[in-house]
Amino acid sequence: MADNIVILTGAGISAESGLGTFRDEGGLWAQHAIEDVATPEGFARNPELVHAFYNARRKQSAQAAPNAAHKALADLEKTHSGNVLIVTQNVDGLHEKAGSQNVLHMHGALAGALCHSCGHRWRAPVDMRPDDRCPACTAPATRPDVVWFGEIPYYMEQISDALTQADLFVSIGTSGEVYPAANFVAEADYHGAHTVELNLEPSSGVSRFAEVHLGPATEIVPAWVQQELLR
Ligand code: APR
Repeated sequence: MADNIVILTGAGISAESGLGTFRDEGGLWAQHAIEDVATPEGFARNPELVHAFYNARRKQSAQAAPNAAHKALADLEKTHSGNVLIVTQNVDGLHEKAGSQNVLHMHGALAGALCHSCGHRWRAPVDMRPDDRCPACTAPATRPDVVWFGEIPYYMEQISDALTQADLFVSIGTSGEVYPAANFVAEADYHGAHTVELNLEPSSGVSRFAEVHLGPATEIVPAWVQQELLR
């Protein structure tokens, strides 16, 4: 049984909870232009459009339930004697709903609001609007607390430290198309971790993993956790 397990998750782990992925057939980036809804420039150009995009996803995520894959990871954290850290690219909050506590949201969270004037953070209302005022500085400068393309992901120092200490790195439900997350497998491998990919289809980085299991997350993640706990 590995002592330090780092688990990277992407949109694929939440697909069976009814939340869309980005790059699969008909995914979010087939419906919306990234430059319009997931960049600071897009937000400056049309904040109403961006708030509407995230308001819809916030409502959908609030109604979504964690699935067997999220729950298996929460069980692993509870049962495993060593350290289990989830680094998620997802903003849907389903890991916490499943009971995971050690979770780093490198792309932020739909539940969070941020004031881009004073940096204050608070729990986002269901619907955010461009003229909402910051509860701290009262500036009309509120935005979803999510990381957009061209911005620096959160917790990069802690993530880098965790990858250095990891004995086991597991990537679940991510296409491996977006950096820096797509390079985590190489960092973990460099520091001697065993690397595992659990995905519906091979990701772009599949050849960099020592072990690969393909299938729906609700099947292969509980099976993998079961096997890991028996080691
Ligand atoms: N079970 C397991 N994996 C699945 C499932 C499923 N049921 N359904 C889809 N997948 C896999 C797909 O095969 C794909 O490899 O999940 C992955 C989803 O890839 P993307 O849609 O690219 O999502 P993700 O990798 O999380 O994107 C990373 O890109 O746009 C940004 O900020 C956004 O965090 C996101 C980042």
